[in-house]
Amino acid sequence: MHQQAETLRTEALALIAAATDSASLEAARVKYLGKSGAITALSEGMRNVAKEDRPAIGKLLNDLRAAVTGALEESQQRLLEAADAAAVSTLDLSLPGTFPASGTLHPLTQLMDRAVQCFRRMGFAIADGPDIETEWHCFDALNTPPDHPARNEQDTFYLPDGRLLRSHTSSVQIRVMETTPPPVRIIAPGAAYRRDEVDATHLAQFTQMEGLYVAENVTLADLKGTLEFFFRELFGSGTDIQFRPHFFPFTEPSYEIDIRAAALGGEWMELAGCGMVDPAVFEAVCKQRGDRVYDPDKVSGFAFGFGLERLAMNLSRIPDIRMLVENDLRFLNQF
Ligand code: DAH
Repeated sequence: MHQQAETLRTEALALIAAATDSASLEAARVKYLGKSGAITALSEGMRNVAKEDRPAIGKLLNDLRAAVTGALEESQQRLLEAADAAAVSTLDLSLPGTFPASGTLHPLTQLMDRAVQCFRRMGFAIADGPDIETEWHCFDALNTPPDHPARNEQDTFYLPDGRLLRSHTSSVQIRVMETTPPPVRIIAPGAAYRRDEVDATHLAQFTQMEGLYVAENVTLADLKGTLEFFFRELFGSGTDIQFRPHFFPFTEPSYEIDIRAAALGGEWMELAGCGMVDPAVFEAVCKQRGDRVYDPDKVSGFAFGFGLERLAMNLSRIPDIRMLVENDLRFLNQF
């Protein structure tokens, strides 16, 4: 039995060492350790071994089984490592990798974020309102009755039920005051609509940012300070800013804001409208709320509004407003 075990060990280890793939390794395992394998058969011979010899022979067989099992595992590992090495040897680490193309935010979104950040630093919160508005929120409450000529300039799209696509985000002023008592300090960025022919400077849908600050003793100085800070943040500290008297139904006095900056080619550009909230607007809000928290004798406020497309076009020298909505990657990749 000793002799037999020794021969089997030598034979098996040689066969396992010579195996070059996992199939021949598996064949070797079956040949020696399988159900009808040689070592299994030898173990079955234990039955005929004399009782006193059993411990020694048992140990011998266990050692043999362990040696063959160990050799099988070792070879398995060797084959796996060889396969890995072969796979890596064809890998060219000097080749450039594949990079997923990363997008960027749309130039309007970038500008919107900058503007929002700037006003947030001055304590303005963001307010929201519906794009589909009532005539009352968009016009009447803003001191623009049906026969007012300002409705012509802001002609928009009407729904059969009389509602309309808001022609400016100024409607959010009214929505905020309806639901929130003063003080309020908000900006309202969002879409606005006009019945305009689309050309290089007009779209039927564009983006506005409205601002409103109402509290006790808000003055024109607050309005000027706030907007001068904003436009200098945007266009640079050397920017000239001029408040040119104008007319808006919802503010009194009203101004248009002109900006002149080296970055804008040194020309005056009209970029925003603003003014002190007209008492008639406060009265409309009071009537709607049924209280007097917006009594124009107690509170005052300023409001402003500007179009983001116009701002982006001036800031980034974009010659045609339509480029902002065409989704042409040759244009968008520049931002
Ligand atoms: N709503 C005006 C427009 O669309 C812009 C504007 C002007 C808003 C003056 C204001 C303001 O709040 O005070 O042309």
